[in-house]
Amino acid sequence: MSAIYPGSFDPVTYGHIDIARRSAKVFGRIIVAVLDNPDKTPLFDINERMALLREAFSQDTNIEVESFSGLLVDYAQQKGIGTIVRGLRGSEDIAKEMPYAIWNRKLSTELAIPVETVYFTAEPDLAHISSSIVKEVAAFVYPAGMSDTEITQAVPPIVCTALREKYI
Ligand code: PNS
Repeated sequence: MSAIYPGSFDPVTYGHIDIARRSAKVFGRIIVAVLDNPDKTPLFDINERMALLREAFSQDTNIEVESFSGLLVDYAQQKGIGTIVRGLRGSEDIAKEMPYAIWNRKLSTELAIPVETVYFTAEPDLAHISSSIVKEVAAFVYPAGMSDTEITQAVPPIVCTALREKYI
C-alpha cells in the first residue's frame, strides 16, 4: 500500500523526516509530495526543496520525492493513491488540518479514488520544530555568526548548509 505525504517542506526538518519514515513503515511506500505553489514565495524554490528532500531520504528505498501543483485530490487521482499522511504537533495543527481533511474527502467523493487523511502524532522531542521557526532563527543566527547548535538539532546538515548560504 502507498500513501502521499504532502507539504511545502520549505525546508525539510527532522520532524518531517520522522513522519515520513514512520508512515512508510505502516504503508510500505510513501510519496513525499512537495507543493509547487506559484502564489507563494518560498525561501527554497521547488528544485531546491526537492533536492534537499531527496538527499534526506537517499537511504530510504520506500520513500520517493515528487512535486505537485493544483489540488491535492487531483494529484492523488493521478497517482492512484487514496491515502494522505500528515503530522500533528499539537492542537493548532489539529485545528488547521481538520478542514483540509474534510475538504479533501468532499472534493474527492465524485472522483474515482476517495481521499482519506491519516494523522501521525509528532515525536514529542520533535514537536516544537517547524520550517517557519527554523527559518526565523536561521535568519538571525547565520548573519550574526552565532552558534547554530539548535538549528542542527532541527534539520539535517545539508539543510543547515543551505540555510547558511541563503542568509549569509
Ligand atoms: O506544509 P504545509 O504548507 O502545511 O502543506 C499544506 C499542503 C501543501 C498540504 C496544502 O496546502 C495542500 O494540499 N495544498 C494543495 C492545494 C489543495 O489541494 N488545496 C485544497 C485542500 S483543502
